[in-house]
Amino acid sequence: MLDDSIGPLHQSVPQVVAVTGGKGGVGKTTIAANMAVSMARNRRQVMLLDADLGLANIDVHLNLLPPYTLAHVLRGDCNLTDIIMPGPAGLKVIPGASGNRLLSQLGRPENIGLVNAFSDLTMPLDALVIDTAAGISDSVLSFCGAAQQVLVVLCDEPASITDAYATIKMLNRENRVARFLVVVNKANSAKHGRDVFDRLNRVTDRFLDVQLELLSVLPQCEHLERSIRQQRTVVEAYPRSRAAIAINKLARKFEGLQKPTSPSGECEFFVERLVEHSMTSEMSAV
Ligand SMILES: Nc1ncnc2c1ncn2[C@@H]1O[C@H](COP(=O)(O)OP(=O)(O)OP(=O)(O)O)[C@@H](O)[C@H]1O
Ligand SMILES: [Mg+2]
Repeated sequence: MLDDSIGPLHQSVPQVVAVTGGKGGVGKTTIAANMAVSMARNRRQVMLLDADLGLANIDVHLNLLPPYTLAHVLRGDCNLTDIIMPGPAGLKVIPGASGNRLLSQLGRPENIGLVNAFSDLTMPLDALVIDTAAGISDSVLSFCGAAQQVLVVLCDEPASITDAYATIKMLNRENRVARFLVVVNKANSAKHGRDVFDRLNRVTDRFLDVQLELLSVLPQCEHLERSIRQQRTVVEAYPRSRAAIAINKLARKFEGLQKPTSPSGECEFFVERLVEHSMTSEMSAV
């Protein structure tokens, strides 16, 4: 039986979260990278996947120089395990592809194929954090559809709110995602963040049958900007800054969410495989 008495840190089912939001520049990559590092620092086995196949930049955020990326996997030059890079605090990073127009325009079947490639992975994981590209391309929909949790990032700009709404609407219609976690970024105060969330929630309540949960409000923070220029995460570079404290809190909250008991999402085999490996490794640890 799998319960808490077996392996204190590995969950029976890894949490898979896709960070999305529609609009560019709202802080998706910053939040995905910082959340992943925060969880890794909390002794979780975490993988961060850069699923941006057009303008990938997790490697830049984390100051990594990946010799191989998802572009090589998609070309058949190597498999996923060959491209995993060590990141901060033991984080495992899968670098995305940058500057390749064809890859950024993959259709639905190719993207599902890429998601399937994850069934090659054999390592135990507590969480997989997927950073998606801006917009609502097939790639974004495929990765969000494969995740159990979709985290929508937005900030107080009309275009960000309308893009977040459009993303939620598409994911609900195309992938039947009905629950969304929301992070309001670059807020002046908790109340400001809550107001932005309420504006989005009012529209989704009115027009869609979905449920939104405000997971966190992150402040506009100078230390975070500085950490980005230093190509480090703020949780490492300035652990006492407002942004780092808020991101650590967000990561703990995410870790504490009700754990998925079975795979869900459109590409169930993706999660199923992760579940299988996680269970096998837990069983062998008994
Ligand atoms: N909380 C914050 N406080 C201050 N600046 C921030 C904050 N969050 C993000 N930024 C700034 O916003 C910029 C864009 O962030 P990021 O690259 O994470 O956005 P993105 O949504 O991933 O963009 P893209 O859609 O282009 O991938 C960062 O370079 C950073 O300077
Ligand atoms: Mg990004």
